Amino acid sequence: MKKTYVNTNNYKYPVIIGGNAFKSLQVELSKANLSKRILVIVDRKVLARYKKVIEKDLKNRADKFYILKLTAGEKLKSQTTVNSIYKVLLKENFGRDTLIIAIGGGTIGDTAGFVASTFMRGVQLVHIPTTLLAAVDSSIGGKTGVNFSNAKNIIGTFYQPSLVLIDTNFFKSLSEDDMVSGVGEIIKYGIISDESFYKYIHSNFSSIFKLKSSVIDKIVYDSVKLKVAVVSEDEFDNKGLRKILNFGHTFAHAFESYYKFKFNHGRTVTAGIVAALCLSNRKEIISNAKLRKLLQLPLKLKTKKLIGDFNSSKIIEMMKLDKKNKWGELNFVLLKNIGEMYVDVRVNKRDIKYALEETKKILL
Ligand SMILES: NC(=O)c1ccc[n+]([C@@H]2O[C@H](COP(=O)([O-])OP(=O)(O)OC[C@H]3O[C@@H](n4cnc5c(N)ncnc54)[C@H](O)[C@@H]3O)[C@@H](O)[C@H]2O)c1
Repeated sequence: MKKTYVNTNNYKYPVIIGGNAFKSLQVELSKANLSKRILVIVDRKVLARYKKVIEKDLKNRADKFYILKLTAGEKLKSQTTVNSIYKVLLKENFGRDTLIIAIGGGTIGDTAGFVASTFMRGVQLVHIPTTLLAAVDSSIGGKTGVNFSNAKNIIGTFYQPSLVLIDTNFFKSLSEDDMVSGVGEIIKYGIISDESFYKYIHSNFSSIFKLKSSVIDKIVYDSVKLKVAVVSEDEFDNKGLRKILNFGHTFAHAFESYYKFKFNHGRTVTAGIVAALCLSNRKEIISNAKLRKLLQLPLKLKTKKLIGDFNSSKIIEMMKLDKKNKWGELNFVLLKNIGEMYVDVRVNKRDIKYALEETKKILL
């Protein structure tokens, strides 16, 4: 098992990674001196599969214990769900000494995190991500949020958990679609980190899908380390550094909204990476040869249908809702080299449209 720490100006908390990491939960909760009045917010599918493990490892420790199972998915991330969780918390007499443990993918974590940050002005939170995507991305860094009026994550908070525990054994029951989703974010880490990680992902690509434990543990750990480093430096996304994590995401969020969340996050992120690379090429930041080289990794997923046909003008309209926009203009993270990005690049509509049309040619 490996351990790393998110260490911001305000918070320090461990991220524990490995097969069977869940077994150390009791010990880690005690080490962190967390409350014994526990509300578990868990993905219904995960509870059905791992009920015994989850109950055994948590119930004995608790003074108060309540399990709330929810159906994961983008629809969950709503004010309606948030209100229903507040109701449970009040009805069950949970107070300020509550510990919320979120067990599930990113939609469970984002929603539970938002509730933890707002209920009684904030209660303790632990993330136990069970999807690859949540493990390498959403569980780390403290961004919580729900969707509103067809805009992704438009209502939210920054709220750090006290502990993140990633048991890579959970991934064994993921569907291929959910593996593809996590791999989309991993491709992003490969592109924004350095040549050696990029090459490792490239040459071990099929082992990720086979969940070869040495490969999956290394890739998850290295991805987490990268996110941890960025978040520790730029907790509130205001120094520019954290923005590099958004590579491909302005496109991805627009694709998600356009398709009404029919394609999962990682698929749209992969398509978004292709579009961001095409835009970097259009802006003459990368040459045609470099574009071809950099497209190799995302295009390893081309056989999985990443997204469908789209209307570029409508995608641009969707982008106007993106939180990263400033002064009413569209902003992008563009790439110069692996690990070398430009952030806050303002781009005109013509160039965006060009990148979207190229993306269609490449992906469809
Ligand atoms: N907060 C952040 O910083 C951040 C970063 C990236 C993404 N996100 C958000 O994360 C969300 C996507 O996360 P996700 O893909 O994990 O979504 P999800 O929670 O919907 O999970 C995807 C699917 O996997 C299933 N599942 C979960 N764990 C499983 C397991 N162990 N075995 C079998 N099935 C399992 C779920 O039931 C669901 O059907 C999006 O809403 C995105 O906006 C947030």
